[in-house]
Amino acid sequence: MSRIAYVNGQYVPHQRASVHVEDRGYQFADGVYEVIAVKDGHLIDLEPHFDRLKRSLGELDIDAPMSRQALTFILKEVVRRNRVRNGIVYLQITRGVAPRDHQFPVDPSAAVVVTARNAAPKVAQREAGIGVITTPDIRWKRCDIKTVSLLPNVLAKQKAVAAGAYEAWQIDEDGNVTEGSATNAWIVTKDGEIVTRQTDEAILSGVTRLAVLELAKRDGIALVERPFSLEEAKAAKEAFLTSTTSNVMPVIEIDGSPIGNGHPGTVTRALSELYERFVADG
Ligand code: PDD
Repeated sequence: MSRIAYVNGQYVPHQRASVHVEDRGYQFADGVYEVIAVKDGHLIDLEPHFDRLKRSLGELDIDAPMSRQALTFILKEVVRRNRVRNGIVYLQITRGVAPRDHQFPVDPSAAVVVTARNAAPKVAQREAGIGVITTPDIRWKRCDIKTVSLLPNVLAKQKAVAAGAYEAWQIDEDGNVTEGSATNAWIVTKDGEIVTRQTDEAILSGVTRLAVLELAKRDGIALVERPFSLEEAKAAKEAFLTSTTSNVMPVIEIDGSPIGNGHPGTVTRALSELYERFVADG
């Protein structure tokens, strides 16, 4: 079956899907994106993704190209045309095409691209747990905006892969963990405190992070949003990461040192189960 992409108003064969060489996303990374999970053909947690998209567009002063309703239609249509049951749908909105010049074009017209693909759920990794390495956080000061400007994240992830790890946790100048290259970071301290960094301009407010926070609160599980250091993470009882493509993923090793007993912890498992149930309920 051939894949289909949506590009600026048209559904086109994926192989031939292309944008103009002067698209500002291509030349300046002047655009934003969202990755939304598809489970049993349904889009998971769509509204918070749209809320974040609206915020990202607003921060970059890019006019929303269409309504949520119209975008939802396109996302579902791309999922349908690609027969995606379990996987992801990718949405990218850039400031559009204009002669190369740093300043905003006078009359920009945002460019919209949507792709979708099936992806195997990472069940085995969630069972066994994964390892992370650490790397200095060399990103800009607005990591709260989900821009397509991801070069430091790309380099961090490549470093992880080269080291045989699943993810790289980025460390700020104070020695605190900010987040992964494409995931949010969590620990469970020796005292049983469940900690994730507060959402400021140093991290992306993950939709999965938010869902886990809400599900835990609803279940009476206390959580704390504060910075935590790499030292604290290495001494933690448990660690895990969250994202649309990883769900709740146990971290059993940081920089080669085992976390806790070196196996996924009970708190992590409980939160993972809560989240999997939430996803299964669509
Ligand atoms: N990444 N932090 C960063 C830097 C991210 O890029 C992501 C998402 C997250 C987790 O956010 P969410 O729970 O909304 O997926 C945190 C996506 C999946 C990606 O770039 O592929």
